[in-house]
Amino acid sequence: MSDLPIKLGLLGLGTVGGGTVNVLRRNADEIARRVGRPIEIKIASVRELSAPRICDCSEFELTDQPKQVVAHPDVDIVVELMGGEGLARELVLAAVHNGKHVVTANKALVALHGNEIFAAAQNAGVSVLFEAAVAGGINIIKSIREGMAGNQIELVAGIINGTGNFILTEMRDKGRTFEDVLAEAQALGYAEADPTFDVEGIDAAHKLTILASIAFGVPLEFDKVYTEGISELELVDVGYAGDLGYRIKHLGIARPVADELELRVHPTLIPEKRLIANVDGVMNAVLVRGDAVGNTLHYGAGAGAEPTASAVVADIVDLSRALAGNSAAPVPHLAFQADAIRARRVRTSEEFTSAYYLRIDVNDVPGVMSELTTIFADLGVSIVAITQKEPARGQHHVSVIFITQRTNEALISKAINQIEDMQDVLKSVTRLRVEHLDS
Ligand code: NDP
Ligand code: HSE
Repeated sequence: MSDLPIKLGLLGLGTVGGGTVNVLRRNADEIARRVGRPIEIKIASVRELSAPRICDCSEFELTDQPKQVVAHPDVDIVVELMGGEGLARELVLAAVHNGKHVVTANKALVALHGNEIFAAAQNAGVSVLFEAAVAGGINIIKSIREGMAGNQIELVAGIINGTGNFILTEMRDKGRTFEDVLAEAQALGYAEADPTFDVEGIDAAHKLTILASIAFGVPLEFDKVYTEGISELELVDVGYAGDLGYRIKHLGIARPVADELELRVHPTLIPEKRLIANVDGVMNAVLVRGDAVGNTLHYGAGAGAEPTASAVVADIVDLSRALAGNSAAPVPHLAFQADAIRARRVRTSEEFTSAYYLRIDVNDVPGVMSELTTIFADLGVSIVAITQKEPARGQHHVSVIFITQRTNEALISKAINQIEDMQDVLKSVTRLRVEHLDS
């Protein structure tokens, strides 16, 4: 580990820029252990210096002159989180010409000007990374570009606009109006500066352009994508589709057909039992089929400050590892730099916390249930559900099933010991752990 920081210049401190500052600050130690050097924000530019921010700006220089950021002599990596494609293009090209590496979340910029920008970067010997440009926090670019590099890609089909999926979900589940949900998506920072990009499918088409390029090795050609949005979709069709066992999702689809490609973005009926049909709210999912791996499904938050910052910071870490200079293994074998790996105590099973399913086989006699519930109550274990089936004809024993609240495993072990000592309990208690996997 070295103390010499990698220095960043940020263009934009809105939803994604603010989220990026917060993630870099909160996780600074972990990130430095991964990179081998600390990361420091040197300067950031905004349009309105006095506007309120979601992040603390006291530790770096703040300017309303974005050109200062791309020309700053100390900046190693320029992080473009402004949006738009006019000024952003100029600034990114200037950064590249000044020998800076670039990270961007700007899919419009990549889809429309990526060919020019990547050629300039290649000439200048710098990298331009854009993981956050597609599907927010999901590492879909890296997965296709690196993880699936051995495959011929047969299909890419994804819910790749969080705002659109949020609108469709809220309208279907809560009967809310289009305008009402769109306003909420804007307030939550999901929507583009011009939200018609979200609802008319333009944003999804930008992203599909990028996905097609990395999946099939074709140039970025946004104008070739067939694009329909969700603004014309009627709730009545959502209902009819549901009656027939389908969900309507706004999908981007890229598929090779012989030597040609289909590139299309439109509302699509999907059988409701497909996993992707159940991707709701601001979540995105991208199905990628490779000839070797088969179907893979990549799922996560498609928009929002910190999910997007997660992908931005991952790109910053990739570039910083390269700048930190271990060319033999730019990505450390175990993700953290070898000298930053620290052992941590691993908990014993008795220290786990979980909810529990317990099956207890008992004699079907009065008082057993009350004895069981008393054991749980005395130990402070709260019960979520109890079920007991009628005994089979001629049988006098039954299975009683308990589901507990989340609790400590040592308490459950104690309860099981006491239960197994009961006279009317016939055999060992079956214990399975229950995980709801929610937040
Ligand atoms: P915001 O509008 O929240 O933030 C934009 C930032 O750029 C603001 O800080 C703004 O300054 C600054 N800015 C804009 N124009 C100028 C200008 N002309 N000169 C100087 N500064 C300027 O946008 P987001 O953070 O939502 O989006 C940023 C990028 O990330 C976009 O490309 C977007 O497509 C992409 N993205 C967004 C996601 C999201 O969930 N929001 C997810 C994935 C990608 P000021 O604050 O003073 O107005
Ligand atoms: N507006 C975009 C969306 C942001 O809702 O998906 C993430 O790219």
